[in-house]
Amino acid sequence: MTHTLTHSDGFGLLRLPTRIHFGNGAASQIAPLARELGRRVFVCCDPFLADTPQFERTCAELRSAGAVLQIWTEVEPELPVDSVHRAADAASVWAPDLVIGFGGGSALDLTKLVALLSSHGGRLSDYYGENAVPGPITPMIAVPTTAGTGSEVTPVAVVTDPGRDLKVGISSPHLIPRFAVVDPTLTRGAPTAVTAYAGVDAFVHAIESYTAEVRAPEWTEQLPVFVGQNRLAGLLAEEAITVIAANLVRAVADPDDEAARTEMAYGSLLAGMAFGSAGTHLSHAIQYPIGALTKTPHGLGTGLLLPYVLRGCRPDIDPALRRIGTLLGVAETGSDPALDAIRRIEQIVADIGIPASLAELGVRAEDLPDISARAAGISRLAGNVAAAKPIERIPGIVTAAWRGDHT
Ligand SMILES: NC(=O)c1ccc[n+]([C@@H]2O[C@H](COP(=O)([O-])OP(=O)(O)OC[C@H]3O[C@@H](n4cnc5c(N)ncnc54)[C@H](O)[C@@H]3O)[C@@H](O)[C@H]2O)c1
Ligand SMILES: [Fe+2]
Repeated sequence: MTHTLTHSDGFGLLRLPTRIHFGNGAASQIAPLARELGRRVFVCCDPFLADTPQFERTCAELRSAGAVLQIWTEVEPELPVDSVHRAADAASVWAPDLVIGFGGGSALDLTKLVALLSSHGGRLSDYYGENAVPGPITPMIAVPTTAGTGSEVTPVAVVTDPGRDLKVGISSPHLIPRFAVVDPTLTRGAPTAVTAYAGVDAFVHAIESYTAEVRAPEWTEQLPVFVGQNRLAGLLAEEAITVIAANLVRAVADPDDEAARTEMAYGSLLAGMAFGSAGTHLSHAIQYPIGALTKTPHGLGTGLLLPYVLRGCRPDIDPALRRIGTLLGVAETGSDPALDAIRRIEQIVADIGIPASLAELGVRAEDLPDISARAAGISRLAGNVAAAKPIERIPGIVTAAWRGDHT
């Protein structure tokens, strides 16, 4: 399919690992890749995976290839800042040549931050925001065991700082892992809720990167980390949308459906490659305060919000929605292809068990103004949609999502 930008200056930007190895069995590539980067390895491994045969095999292969390992398994949910500093202190003493992350998005984000702090020192707060990492960091190999975050290819890591209400991101091209090894067999055993929430978040990454603002970059200046919708990211997003739409419901319904699991690992990888340069937008901006308020998983919130965001940004994003409708196979069936695309997305979200309204997450009517104000405050995300006056749209989107109002 031809990707048509709404802007005549069709630019492109991708920043990626230098190598991406994807496929069932690709985990056997970890040891030879590690060997290219050095001998002393600090490994951040999800605690629930540390005693699995897959991880033990990887460690044995690394040791056979001459590596010496320090294995860190204290990966805490939501990555509290203190836990990251403890891991980074241990890594600094070990002085690794490379850091390997083996686990879900939390383990991979920890790996990025360990590599950052063991290279440049200081506190995490020194690097909050965009482009605050001063230079290259210890090389990383990222090995995801969930299909969703795309962290194995993205320039961002997210932490919880008790001094702040909302989770906070560190984003820099220097955080992109050197190598990504995506072996779908490693996602076997992920709990159904993780398959659903991480999987739908990948769907949101793909659709938001595809409906992101188009703005020609100032090539003469330092580029922002997220530059908006662009030709190269668009190609990847189209494939990600197609693949995830066809496989998410199957992967959630049947954990033994190996083909669906493989496709989800592929789709989430592509979605990460796309949003790593284009960025995401309103579902992510609005999920941050909702996640803080309700302590619900990131993907549950972004998946719930996506259809309301798409409805709230019409008709400005209708050209992209019509192309999405073609990818989803609904474009020819209805009188309004953009609306048909949203309805199909709503169906997928409902079919994997995402609640239809914010009220069902425990959000109260009196919380809505504060949620809207905080979401609007994350202007880097909130402003990254291809719709005019995005901030003014937030209260309407939040109210519709609270009511479960699909009109
Ligand atoms: N850096 C990025 O680009 C990016 C993007 C989106 C989200 N995130 C971050 O990623 C985190 C969420 O990551 P996630 O959704 O992958 O979840 P996670 O890493 O927090 O893991 C969720 C749970 O699944 C378990 N698990 C993971 N893989 C498993 C497997 N194969 N078998 C059995 N159990 C398994 C973990 O032990 C954990 O209990 C959040 O902190 C979020 O902020 C980062
Ligand atoms: Fe996300």
